[in-house]
Amino acid sequence: MTGASSGKLSRRSLLGLVSAITVAPQLRAQPPNRMRPQAGDELVFDDGPSLGEVVRPNLIELHARPVAALARDPASGVLRDGSRLNRVMLTRIDPEELAPRFQANAAGGIVAYSAVCTHTGCDVFNWDEEQLRMACPCHESQFDIYDGGRVVGGPAPRPLAMLPLEIAGGAVRVAGPFRGRVGFQQAF
Ligand code: FES
Repeated sequence: MTGASSGKLSRRSLLGLVSAITVAPQLRAQPPNRMRPQAGDELVFDDGPSLGEVVRPNLIELHARPVAALARDPASGVLRDGSRLNRVMLTRIDPEELAPRFQANAAGGIVAYSAVCTHTGCDVFNWDEEQLRMACPCHESQFDIYDGGRVVGGPAPRPLAMLPLEIAGGAVRVAGPFRGRVGFQQAF
């Protein structure tokens, strides 16, 4: 009896293993809308008066309050809205004043930073227009838009990730994957 039970369990385990191996590649494939922004994606406004429109350089003024945007695959039309980690905040800076090591990430003066605070993950939607800093409403972390999202106040442990941009076909597009880690680490 015991031996028969063991045999059944073993066969079941084996079947489970085979099944896991068979479905593993599908589990690993991420739906396109959850994938991080990809090189060549166009950016689309995710709030503000131009909601849903493709981001064009002339729609963002110098030192404008950062506006949210999402990436969209121009071929399939898939909007990458399946993860809040995909959201970025856009503004325009003076390219001459941007720290040199981040200049390759800007396009026509436009920069994109992750919208997710590196402290505990709130949306970084506040804006200090005098000091030109993005700010988090939860615990008042502040980030320098001229220095790669460097933390200049509050408890955030690291800079905001920066999304490299390019301008192609008159639109602002993604030039490559995020520089820096997106998201946050919870201590609880
Ligand atoms: S979540 Fe942004 S400062 Fe705490």
